Amino acid sequence: MRSSLAPLLVTLACAGAALPAQAQFARPDEAVKYRQGAWNVLNQHFTRVGHMVRGRLPFEPRLAQQDADVVALLARLPAAAFGPGTDTAADHARAEIWAEPARFRELGERLVAETGRLQAATRLHDLDQIKAAWGAAANTCKECHDAYRSH
Ligand code: HEC
Repeated sequence: MRSSLAPLLVTLACAGAALPAQAQFARPDEAVKYRQGAWNVLNQHFTRVGHMVRGRLPFEPRLAQQDADVVALLARLPAAAFGPGTDTAADHARAEIWAEPARFRELGERLVAETGRLQAATRLHDLDQIKAAWGAAANTCKECHDAYRSH
């Protein structure tokens, strides 16, 4: 009795530890779709602000503000979808994410802070400040992709 109970308790303890990710996503591929969807929508709005910053689109302060609101919200979402067991064959994420979770988390938090600053800059309707905040955020995208995105 005692020997058959021990593995069960270990299994229950592991299930408990994995609960946050499993409570949100029924299957690993749903987590992958969710985080890729968030990145792709974020990218559309971030790129449009980038076009304004680079003079490829006219600077429209209200539009920039709306884009930055979407970006700041979406930047918060992907982190929860990189839980244990979500490194699947179909994703574009490197295994290092799960091997170096602290650095990956730190980069994600930096993106949240920087997109918050971008949002604040768009409230001022000041293109120079928007440019600086956009550039800082874009560097964080690149740093994280270089280290943790497979392609
Ligand atoms: C903390 C790390 C990190 C940061 C910061 C980050 N990304 Fe990513 N991004 C990833 C990873 C990892 C993937 C691969 C996701 C997957 O397949 O699971 C990805 C994928 C993407 C994709 C492709 C989604 C797909 O369909 O595979 C786009 C577009 C993207 N990111 C845009 C951005 C933009 C724009 C920024 C900055 C504003 C950014 N990302 C910041 C880690 C990051």
